[in-house]
Amino acid sequence: MAKKTAGDAFDFKDAASQSGPLLVVDDLHTSFRTTRGTVRAVDGVSFEVHEGKTLGIVGESGSGKTVLSRSIMGLLPPRDVIRSGTVHFAGHDLTAMGDTELRRIWGAELSMIFQDPMTALNPVKRIGVQIAESLRLHLDMDKKEAQSTAIELLRSVGIPSPEQRVRWYPFQLSGGMRQRVMIAIALACAPRLVMADEPTTGLDVTVQAQILDLLADLQRERHMAVILVTHDLGVVAGRADDIIVMYAGRIVERAPTRTLFADTKMPYTKALMDSIPRLADPSGARLSAIGGRPPDLINPPTGCRFSPRCQYAQDKCRELEPPLRTVGSPDHLFACWYPLVDGVSTAPSVPVSITTNPATTANDAAPTGGTTS
Ligand SMILES: Nc1ncnc2c1ncn2[C@@H]1O[C@H](COP(=O)(O)OP(=O)(O)OP(=O)(O)O)[C@@H](O)[C@H]1O
Ligand code: SF4
Ligand SMILES: [Mg+2]
Repeated sequence: MAKKTAGDAFDFKDAASQSGPLLVVDDLHTSFRTTRGTVRAVDGVSFEVHEGKTLGIVGESGSGKTVLSRSIMGLLPPRDVIRSGTVHFAGHDLTAMGDTELRRIWGAELSMIFQDPMTALNPVKRIGVQIAESLRLHLDMDKKEAQSTAIELLRSVGIPSPEQRVRWYPFQLSGGMRQRVMIAIALACAPRLVMADEPTTGLDVTVQAQILDLLADLQRERHMAVILVTHDLGVVAGRADDIIVMYAGRIVERAPTRTLFADTKMPYTKALMDSIPRLADPSGARLSAIGGRPPDLINPPTGCRFSPRCQYAQDKCRELEPPLRTVGSPDHLFACWYPLVDGVSTAPSVPVSITTNPATTANDAAPTGGTTS
């Protein structure tokens, strides 16, 4: 594997020995000006990621996951975007950097696996050339060295006959193979943090598991941190150390994975859990879908943004926004006025027809690709 030399200008090696989180996102807001009004896609998000750890970010379609990922990377459209808050990576404030500085970090220290490999890969360039470009730019390799490293990278992500396939174009590969190429490109320069935005969307369940296992193996080998973004809580159930649940641009629950499943506080998180297919479910069993639609991010509801869809909503929920808070463990945060206790709402008046599903656990939530969107 190539020896890393990129990123020296930012003293990342010194930062590697620092204690403390690798990534610190603090009160990040990202909005888009549109003809209809301002879309508040990310609305005051804060979290940390430590070296070598996996953070899962989960939420329905439109909850702001991709905008959050791109906002952290600094990969936003050039116009009509308003961003505030800070993103510190290895002690350096990415939000204060210009494009030239960011380009030295992208790929080398911080890389992204995009939601759709067909649009992220260049259709008219051979895959070997696309991998080699990053190696030559960041690691100063000559053409021959970059080509042989590209072959080794393709081998490491499980592409058969990489000596031949390095000359193939993206359209000649299957969806799973293209996603493996995306992973090879993202990992080419041995980054410290990889953001994987729905890396398995559109792939069948078996290929999805293979790709996620591959990413986990490479992560262990290289001691990388990974942010795994998905709409499917089942995908991150057995893979993430910590999980953030997003709703309408905000974090509504955040906890270590086991805690989130064992002691779910927020009804929205519970609803996501109830939509995960489980191995114990009889075949043909219907999954529980979340009723209603996610809110318009130009005019979100007052109070709790989930209140129009929450079966436990009270007047207070519709009037006042619940803050992200904790009761007990400081690493378990949730935004709900009437949190669940043992799966049961603490709201004073709950409709009698409501039955709570049996508690779902991280172990029996099989990552079989359930979806809520
Ligand atoms: N360039 C843009 N201009 C205006 N609105 C945007 C822009 N990009 C994203 N949005 C809006 O921001 C919100 C969050 O979008 P985002 O793509 O982050 O959702 P997501 O959680 O990644 O959804 P999915 O699971 O479908 O990928 C959506 O309402 C979307 O329409
Ligand atoms: S604050 Fe109220 S509406 Fe919001 S999730 Fe909690 S119980 Fe439901
Ligand atoms: Mg997305």
